[in-house]
Amino acid sequence: MHKIAVFASGSGSNAQKIIEYFQNQPHAEVALVLSNNPNAGVLERAASFGVPTYVFNRSTFYNTNEVIQELQNHQITFVVLAGFLWLTPANLVQAYPHRIINIHPALLPKFGGKGMYGHFVHEAVVQAGESESGITIHYVNEHYDEGQIIFQARCALDKDDTPDEVAHKVQVLEHQHFPEVIAKIISKLPSA
Ligand code: GRF
Repeated sequence: MHKIAVFASGSGSNAQKIIEYFQNQPHAEVALVLSNNPNAGVLERAASFGVPTYVFNRSTFYNTNEVIQELQNHQITFVVLAGFLWLTPANLVQAYPHRIINIHPALLPKFGGKGMYGHFVHEAVVQAGESESGITIHYVNEHYDEGQIIFQARCALDKDDTPDEVAHKVQVLEHQHFPEVIAKIISKLPSA
């Protein structure tokens, strides 16, 4: 049984979809939800599904091995960043080589990198006059949004779409594809 940890900094709608998806899957489960934000909505969502949570601050995350220790305490074999806003530290990337993935709400390599998250992404897409947007799921390394791309899905944009309307179209893709892409990757791993 692969045990998945989900990192999120905010509402956690993606985390919830992933928890729900794996409730009916025999080979993997979401065993831990972690956040850098003690007020993150994702913590309540996790608790409502009985999933343990763990909150950490910047010093713990970047200056200790405590987060890795917590992952190991829960026998975590796969890590998912779902709206997690901090850069992943090298020790975590090294502890989970090719086992950490992230979702970005745009078609990387465009509209990625530091500061390109949430609304800022969709505003930049609208500002650039793009005719489409979408999602990118990629492996995580120590740089924002630069790991090997695993999956992308696209949505058409209308000329008068607002950033909020783009965000909604993108979120529909996130919720539709992220759980299935995670399941597909895990199905190819040695069983845990
Ligand atoms: C999503 O847009 C995701 O692509 C990005 O952060 C947002 C998380 O939304 N990485 P939620 O917290 O899962 O609702």
